[in-house]
Formats: sequence, structure tokens, C-alpha cells
Amino acid sequence: MCGIIAYTGKQTASTVLLQGLKQLEYRGYDSAGISVLSRGKLRTWKAAGKLEALLHLLPTKISGKSGIGHTRWATHGAPSDLNAHPHSVTVSLPDDQNRSNNPESTVTISLVHNGIIENSEQLLQQLQDQQLQPQSETDSEILALTIASIKSQQSVSLLEACRLALLQVHGTYGIAAMEPDSSDIILARNGSPVIIGIGEGEMFAASDASALSRHTREVTHLEDGELACLTPDGYQVQSLNAQPSIKTAITLDVQSINHQLGDYAHFMHKEILEQPATIARTLSGRLDHRFNTSHLGGLNLDARELLDIKRIKLLGCGSAYYAAQSGADMIESLARIPGDAEPAAEFRYRNPLIERDTLYIVVSQSGETYDTLAAAREIKRKGGKLLGIVNSVGSTIAREVDGGVYMHAGPEVSVASTKAYSSMLVVFALLALQLARIRDLSPQQGAHIVQALEDLPQLIEETLAQEEMIKTVAASYADVSSAFFVGRTSAYPIALEGAQKLKEISYIHAEAYPASELKHGPLALISPTTPTLVVLPDNDLLEKSLSALEEIKARQGPLIALTNSPDKRIPKLADHVLKAPQCHPILHPMVMAIPLQLFAYHCALALGRDVDQPRNLAKSVTVE
Ligand code: F6R
Repeated sequence: MCGIIAYTGKQTASTVLLQGLKQLEYRGYDSAGISVLSRGKLRTWKAAGKLEALLHLLPTKISGKSGIGHTRWATHGAPSDLNAHPHSVTVSLPDDQNRSNNPESTVTISLVHNGIIENSEQLLQQLQDQQLQPQSETDSEILALTIASIKSQQSVSLLEACRLALLQVHGTYGIAAMEPDSSDIILARNGSPVIIGIGEGEMFAASDASALSRHTREVTHLEDGELACLTPDGYQVQSLNAQPSIKTAITLDVQSINHQLGDYAHFMHKEILEQPATIARTLSGRLDHRFNTSHLGGLNLDARELLDIKRIKLLGCGSAYYAAQSGADMIESLARIPGDAEPAAEFRYRNPLIERDTLYIVVSQSGETYDTLAAAREIKRKGGKLLGIVNSVGSTIAREVDGGVYMHAGPEVSVASTKAYSSMLVVFALLALQLARIRDLSPQQGAHIVQALEDLPQLIEETLAQEEMIKTVAASYADVSSAFFVGRTSAYPIALEGAQKLKEISYIHAEAYPASELKHGPLALISPTTPTLVVLPDNDLLEKSLSALEEIKARQGPLIALTNSPDKRIPKLADHVLKAPQCHPILHPMVMAIPLQLFAYHCALALGRDVDQPRNLAKSVTVE
């Protein structure tokens, strides 16, 4: 998703900005640009494509110690040089204004913007009434022109012009803006993260802490409805109502945000292979052998409050939603509390009933996904009990929920989620265990699960050891144009995530269905060129799932079985078998995710795809 970087201080601004943009690349983007204040003038370069395209445009030396930069992920208008940010706009002063006090008779500003201006059509109409016309197709340029127009008409500071313009805006924004002859940077936030980095005689800002971590560990987060003015010597924050805000700086845990590729070809591969360690971190200190249970300290709910919970509602987007489906299943089967998962964006817009004895849990790797954040706010607004399961420490969702659990999976850089997904599942297993042991799960059953979770990193290690075999199977399917993933009950969310991984990074069309649904429609599409991957955990439904294999086989559909069952009929029916280790049923989603991640990764590699930054996708989706 779009990324912002801003700098004012003593270093060469272009160097700081380009380093920052490099750090932000992982978020996914389609164009990039910078504006630098050089000898009193704003100079802007921007280009569609990857950062290399921008670097080709830049002169070898750019003087100037203040500037803003951006990586864009298109929302309004296609990826193009013109639509790239920063948007540098110039507005002439109205004829009746006293030009003797304004010798240049024009106002220029440069702006970068993350988010979506929902009333851009209305703002455009106002601009057109003043004979102002944007050059690009973006809502962001409309905002830039609106700010410049207010500044020219009212002769106010850039900070005040931004404030007055933003009072007219409906939508989401994180912005950084500047003007000629001033090294000040103006920032504002509503729904899109903006973090101020505090240095000595220099100040930074970014939409993502990872872009700041090489320069400073002291940061403060802008909250929604706040604006800031950065100078090399400090910063001031105020509300949209022009009331000063007092901010407290916090120290970043650099370990938790820094990411290095090391010797790996791709972050996705690195993150898949890291899972024994990341899962061990998610589990660390949370298993209790004495009472055969788990302890998630951050829940901020005591045993009595946990006992009062009658229902659990899990909310997330994309892979977090699929993990939530597995989580609901774990909670319901282990703790016998009705649980269900729903896409966060849909939940929010259907005027949901919020119940006093329901526990609402939002799940997010980034902690910045706008749809999930908006659902969380809706629940809070209606008085619901809200927890978060979040990976990114200090992120907006983590700061806004009443309590919750950090995944501790470390920074996830690849757009396709792998280690965060498995850590979400581990947190759900821990939560299910804690809730179940407060209810009627026996100490003996609890002990089995504690032991199973302790063994999980080793089981993941064993599954990863099959990479070469999975790579060979993946290579033989990489040329298909469509694939199905099926599973029954608890295996269905696993199939959903398998299809998600494949389509995201290989661009092969992949759909997941409950295996029982095949005969109600999708079977029409089974053919010798359409493979089906069947998720077959070793459980009571194996017999039923085998009949799905028979149905597909009868239609000459190629079959890949992903299983941890020793049943001898499976290798006879399936063309290929991907093996997962036998384990407690609560661990099935975790161990079965691994072969699916490797399968997608090797299909994408065989096709020469941009694995870490797949087309059209972004790491942290901070727009609606
Ligand atoms: C899939 C993927 C996305 C995210 C989704 C939610 O590989 O990465 O589907 O899972 O955008 O993101 P978070 O978890 O950051 O809220």
C-alpha cells in the first residue's frame, strides 16, 4: 500500500528519502516520487514502476535538506507518471488580492497522500468553479489543489491551509506537504498511519516505522484528527480544531521492525522457513504445565469474565479472516463456545448487533488494515468487549483495542502472509485451550494439547524438510490456468488459505470449496487440465472426503492430496500426495499450511513471478 517518507534536517534529503522508499517497497506499490526543497524551490521527480525507474530520472546530485517521498498503490487513476506522488501544484492568487504583498503572485505546494478522499468529486467542483483543474486522475491532487487554493485565497500558513482543507474532507488520509522557501513539513492523519521520528537537529516522518528505524528509535504516532508541523528542531501537533496536542514519544523496539533478506532469494521463502522459530516465539511463556492450560496475559479478562462469554466473533480480512475461520473452529470444538468468523469490512456495514456476552476479536498482522480497524471502532462505539490479535507492535489496532495478544512473529515483509498466518493459528489454539480449561476440558486433555503445542515447532521443521518433493510437484502443475482446493469442515479454511496463497503469488486462478459442495456446481469445471488439491486431515471425516476424491477421479481431474493420514487408499487415488505429520487435530491447520505455502511459492518461482511483491497487491491495506 502507499508509503510516505518525509525529512527535514541536516542530511541530504534525497538520500534519506530514497532509503526510506526502499524500506517501504515491501508494502507493494506501482510508482514512486520525491520532492526536495533545493535553493528555496521545490523540485519533484516521479515515475511509474519500481524505484529503479525513479532513480533513472534523478540527477546525480540533489542538494536540499528537506523533502517528502511516496510509493503509490493506485486507487484513483491508473499507475502512471502523472498520477504518481508527490503532487506539486501551483495556484495563482485571485486578481483582487494585493499583489504588492505577494510578489510571486502564486502559491505552490507539494503533497503526498495515503488514503482515499471520498468527497473528491465535490471538492473538484469547487476547484472548477475557481477555474482550477487537476492534471492527474487522482483524488490526492484534488486535495493538493484545495490546500493551495485556500492558502492563496486566505493568505494563511501551509499548516492552517491544510487544516482548513481537511475540515472539508470526507475520507481517509495520511499526508505530508511542503512549500517553497520553507523547510517545514506539514503532516496530518485520519485513518492512515503517520509516525513522527525524532532526531537531533533533524526530524522524520513515515507511514511505517521500518522506514525510520535506521535513523531514530524515538517516535510518536499521530492520531486520527491530528496535524503536525515538523521543523529541523522539533515538532508541534494540533487537532483539526486547532487545539494543541501533547504527545509522548516512545522508543521503538528495532528488533521487531527491522527486516533483512540475508542469503534468501525472497522474503516469502525466508518467512516460510522461519516458522519453527516464530511459532516457538508465539508460544513462549504462554503454556502452563501446572494447570495444563495456557495464559494469554494481555486479554485483560479474569477467569470469571472469560466464563461469562457466551459467544465469540472473530473478524479479519484476507488470510487473517481464513485464520479466524480456523480459530472459530478451534474455540467451538475445544471450548464448546459458539464461534464464528466474518470478513471485517462486511461486518461493519451490516449494522451488526453487538451483544454484551459476546467477545469480539479482531485479527491483523499489520494492525493497520483499515477495514479491520473500522470494524474494531464500530464494536467499541457500540460498547462491545473487544480484543486484538496483532503482529505489529504499537500499530493502530494494537493501540485501540481493550486488550489482546501479540503474535511475536517478527516483521513480515512478503506481501503474501505465511509466518503471521501460522502465528495467528497458534494464538487461537492458545485461546481455545485457555477458554476450554476454564470450562469442561479435563486436565488430561489439556495436558495433551499443551504437549502438542510444545511439539509444534519440531513438527513444522519436519514438514519443511519436504520442500524438495513439494517443489517437484509444484513444477508439474505450474502451467495450469485454474485449480480447486477443497476440504471438509475444519479443512475448508485450510483449503481457502491454500487457494489464496496460490492465486496471490502465481496468478493461477484458484478457488476453494467445501468438498461436499463440489457436486452442487463446481464439478462442472473439473477436467483433465483442472487440478484439485484435497485437504485430508486424519479425522472422522476422512471416509467422506475420500468420496470427493473418487468424484474428481471419475471426471479425470488431476488430484493432489494433502494429508497426514496413513490411509493406503489415498496414494492410490491421488496423482500426488503432499505429506504432513500426524498430530493433535488442533494443530492440523498449522502443519497443513506449510506444504500449501511451499506449493504456492514454487509454482510462482517456476512461473518467474515477483514473489514478494505480487502485482496489484499491497502488504498493509490502509484504505477502505
Ligand atoms: C494474504 C494477505 C492478505 C492479508 C490481509 C489482512 O497473504 O497477506 O490477505 O492477510 O490483507 O492483512 P492484516 O493481517 O495485516 O490485517
